[in-house]
Amino acid sequence: MPTPTKPSVGWIGAGRMGYEMAARLAKGGADVLVWNRTRAKAEPLAQYGARIAASITDLAGRDIVFCMVATWKDVKQVVGDLLAGKAQPRLVIECSSISLEGSAELREMLARRGIAYLAAPVSGNAKVIKAGKLSFVCSGPRASFDEALPYLKMIGPAASYVGEGELSRIVKICHNVFLGVVTQSLAEITVLAQKAGVPRHALLDFLNQSVMGSTFSRYKTPAFVNLDFKVTFTPELLRKDLDLGLDAGRRFEVPLPLASATRDLIQSMMGRGMREEDFATLLVQQAEASGIELQPENVEVKDGLS
Ligand SMILES: NC(=O)c1ccc[n+]([C@@H]2O[C@H](COP(=O)([O-])OP(=O)(O)OC[C@H]3O[C@@H](n4cnc5c(N)ncnc54)[C@H](OP(=O)(O)O)[C@@H]3O)[C@@H](O)[C@H]2O)c1
Repeated sequence: MPTPTKPSVGWIGAGRMGYEMAARLAKGGADVLVWNRTRAKAEPLAQYGARIAASITDLAGRDIVFCMVATWKDVKQVVGDLLAGKAQPRLVIECSSISLEGSAELREMLARRGIAYLAAPVSGNAKVIKAGKLSFVCSGPRASFDEALPYLKMIGPAASYVGEGELSRIVKICHNVFLGVVTQSLAEITVLAQKAGVPRHALLDFLNQSVMGSTFSRYKTPAFVNLDFKVTFTPELLRKDLDLGLDAGRRFEVPLPLASATRDLIQSMMGRGMREEDFATLLVQQAEASGIELQPENVEVKDGLS
């Protein structure tokens, strides 16, 4: 019996998320060829055994191609470029956080070429990926999910299949609306407690051990306590996701008052020039609105990941 050959994988996008995801695939032994618009960002992946492509069209002949860029406009651009030649992959797995409409357009674009498509957005930041805790939510043909699963499992332990079509996109949009609202709420109560005299680390120590604590509240604790706002996720990408949520709310006639207020608070932050650091700077904006200036507490706190 001939040994079955290992499917070849192409990877588009080595930004904060794409880099760490591709690194886990390569470390897991997959045959990965990576392309990134800014080639230098992808090059360190070679140390894990990935190969770096000079041109995106080099990825077209791979069996499976993953895509992790930023917006729908970017996805459309890179997939269009990928398919500019004659070669084409069997399956595309798209992981960026994009709209239902964009995802449906992509499905049509790929179906016309006979390419299977799995929509597979994710939950977790780059540090979460490194800690081996990323989760995927997937939709599309069940057979494509089954084919993708061994690769998804190399990247993260959890992959939920939620059904056909673009259903995973709405799940991811709901997830990120929740992310924005929870972060703003966490900022509000942290500043309230501090102004009343409670150190931030003390409040969060209690909260993280209470029924309200979560993986998220724990891994944002170092940023909230020691004000390390090195970017994990930008205010701009979060605004995009809140906008996707509000668009979906209009489409399905669902009021989203908390999402709406949070979207505007992110907008205020960006309008004031707070764009480059992590979205957890919602805490700084909240402190300023409350008349206090935050100082790092310089207390060692755990993030629950390492
Ligand atoms: N960061 C998080 O915590 C997080 C969590 C879950 C989901 N997401 C989602 O994951 C996606 C990526 O987020 P990220 O934080 O990794 O963003 P990022 O660091 O800004 O990376 C964006 C990637 O997309 C590439 N790109 C953007 N526009 C492009 C275009 N027109 N043509 C070619 N390449 C293009 C960039 O290439 P260059 O390197 O050349 O700029 C880079 O590789 C987004 O949809 C985001 O909403 C992020």
